[in-house]
Amino acid sequence: MNAPIVYLNHEFMPLAEARVSPLDRGFLFADGVYEVIPVYAGKAFRLQEHLDRLQRSLDGIRLSMPLTNRDWIHAIDELIRHNGGGELSIYLQITRGAAAYRDHAFPAGVDPTVFMMATTRKPPEPALLAMGIRAITLDDIRWRYCHLKTIALLPNILLRQEAIDHGCTEAILVRDDLVTEGAASNVFIVHKGTLLTPPRGPFLLPGITRDLLLELAREHGIPCREADITRDMLAEASEVWVTSSTREILPVTEIDEQAVGTGEPGPVWAQMMAHYRVYTDLLRSGDAA
Ligand SMILES: Cc1ncc(COP(=O)(O)O)c(C=O)c1O
Repeated sequence: MNAPIVYLNHEFMPLAEARVSPLDRGFLFADGVYEVIPVYAGKAFRLQEHLDRLQRSLDGIRLSMPLTNRDWIHAIDELIRHNGGGELSIYLQITRGAAAYRDHAFPAGVDPTVFMMATTRKPPEPALLAMGIRAITLDDIRWRYCHLKTIALLPNILLRQEAIDHGCTEAILVRDDLVTEGAASNVFIVHKGTLLTPPRGPFLLPGITRDLLLELAREHGIPCREADITRDMLAEASEVWVTSSTREILPVTEIDEQAVGTGEPGPVWAQMMAHYRVYTDLLRSGDAA
C-alpha cells in the first residue's frame, strides 16, 4: 500500500497530515465507538450490518449518527478507492469531539470527531489454521455494556496481553461460570454434536462474523443454537473456535494447556470454513453483501 489516505471529519488526507486535538474526548475519556470492517477485493463485508451495529453503539452512548447511511457508503467506497482497493481492513471511529475544557459531562454544541483509516488485511496464517491456536480462560473483568463497540478497550487489552504472556493467542472470558466471548472475538463450541455460541446480551459483542456463522450453519443444516456455555461444557467440547472480522474463524486446539477434542482443528470447523470461503468469494465477485 502507498502512503495511507485517511478520512477525518469529512475530508480525505494523508495519514501524516491528520490532526486531532488533545482535548478530544476519545483521547481524554475513551468517549467514543468504533467499527472494523474487512474488505475483500475492494468490497466491504456486511457493510449494512456494521452500520446498524454502529448506530446501536452510538445510541448506547447517546451520541447522534454524524453521517447518513448513504454518506457512509460513499465515504467508505472512496476510502477503499484512495487506498488501492484489494484486501483491506477499515477502522472507523467516532468520538464525542473536543470541547474547550475537560469535563466528564457531555459538552454542548461540539461536533463529533469522525475518523477512518484503511490498512492491508492479512488473512490468518495457513499454519495457524492448520494447527489451531492456544487459548487461556480468564475472568471477564469488563463492564455491563460489552454489547456496545466502544473504544474503551483497556480491560480487553490487559486480558489479551495476559493471554500472550502465557504463550496464547486469545483469552476466552468467563463470567459467573459462563463463557462470554474472547478478548477480541466471539466463541463457538461443538458440544454433543451441536454448534453453540452464547446468546446476545450485555456481556458480549454481537459479532458480525458470529451472526454470519449462525446464518450459514442454519442454511447448511449444521445443528446450531445460541445457548449458555458453562466452563464444564467448554472443557467437554469437541471443537472450540473464536471468530472476528479480521481473524475469520480460528480453531482453538488447546485451552489452559489441555487439548480441545483431538487437539486438531475439527471437521465442523473445516465445513464452516468452506462455507465462509464460498461467502467471501461471492463477495469478491460482487454476489454477496
Ligand atoms: C470483544 C469482541 N467480541 C467480538 C468481536 C467479533 O466481532 P466481529 O465479528 O464483528 O469482528 C470483536 C471484534 O473485534 C471484539 O473485539
